[in-house]
Amino acid sequence: MINLGDAELLEAQAHVWNHIFNFINSMSLKCAVQLGIPDVIHRHGKPISLSQIISTLPVHPAKARCIPRLMRILVHSGFFARAKISENDDEEEGYVLTNASQLLLKDNPLSVTPFLIAMLDPILTGPWHYMSTWFLNDDVTPFDTAHAKTFWEYCGHEPNLNNFFNKAMASDARLITRVLINECKGVFEGLKSLVDVGGGTGTVAIAIAKAFPDLDCTVFDLPHVVADLEGTQNLEYIGGDMFEEIPPSDAILLKWILHSWNDEECVKILKRCKEAIKGRKGGKLIIIDMIVGSHNRDDDSTETQLSFDMLMMVLVTGRERNEKEWAKLFSDAGFSYHKINPVLGLRSIIEVYP
Ligand SMILES: C[S@@+](CC[C@H](N)C(=O)[O-])C[C@H]1O[C@@H](n2cnc3c(N)ncnc32)[C@H](O)[C@@H]1O
Repeated sequence: MINLGDAELLEAQAHVWNHIFNFINSMSLKCAVQLGIPDVIHRHGKPISLSQIISTLPVHPAKARCIPRLMRILVHSGFFARAKISENDDEEEGYVLTNASQLLLKDNPLSVTPFLIAMLDPILTGPWHYMSTWFLNDDVTPFDTAHAKTFWEYCGHEPNLNNFFNKAMASDARLITRVLINECKGVFEGLKSLVDVGGGTGTVAIAIAKAFPDLDCTVFDLPHVVADLEGTQNLEYIGGDMFEEIPPSDAILLKWILHSWNDEECVKILKRCKEAIKGRKGGKLIIIDMIVGSHNRDDDSTETQLSFDMLMMVLVTGRERNEKEWAKLFSDAGFSYHKINPVLGLRSIIEVYP
């Protein structure tokens, strides 16, 4: 028999409801972005009324009356805010963007929209429905249970997924690279060569090559990712498999790579990296990834890190790691020293030395 007072009973029910409907926040946001609502508000240049938003959107007339409901939940979740339309008018309030929705504008070079669209695509949300089945079978990931192939195999065979996944990665890379080059220049100083392992289509390496014209940069990724991409004077693309061999270099950049792989796979990759920097003066790895549970995170940040950890479990064989787990990986791969700099928001830069 459940032993709860009436107030506790209702509070418990509300908690369950809140979690049942967590996905509605993501889906409402996706809808607003697909309709271009942040762009409409931005183009208006001042607080915009509901009727102006509705008249600008190509929505079916019968659906116009549902837009206020979509706006209301997105105000609640912090993507839009209310502001007076004119100083003289006490009554009418319009909508403005928040810092978060500025990152969802189509023309913002730092837009995170490609990441949102990719993560909420049915190819990537489908496997979540198979998580409990996966716990009972011997498939490697829920992604495999849903699609009968690994995430990386699917990317290799399905140009649509390959395309939107690479765009998502490139959008994150643009944002993080701005902070990296502004705040962490020292990490690259003194290096003559750098290989961005799993560097995707090269967004990070292109920016680093531009900021450091004397640094020879290589983007190393799977052949289907770098096929047809052209380098510049100090940047080249090489296709290959990081589990086999990594081109030699002073430094190896691993951004959002190791969290996609299990401990055994990470140690293999790290050993290949160690071989690639062998004999290089000041040779090091530069890792950009999360460190779970450190640096006094607030509740939201911790929840986001834990969500990423679940994402790595559902799509691939990886995980997000705490400081101790990172240290073990480095020592198992034969590295002797590392330092952590938590300068990239939810992620850190970890410099690792042989
Ligand atoms: C999560 S993405 C990160 C991309 C990029 N570093 C970034 O953060 O924007 C992982 C990358 O690893 C690449 N990758 C996966 N398996 C690989 C392998 N065996 N060898 C080289 N690259 C691989 C993928 O193609 C993908 O570009």
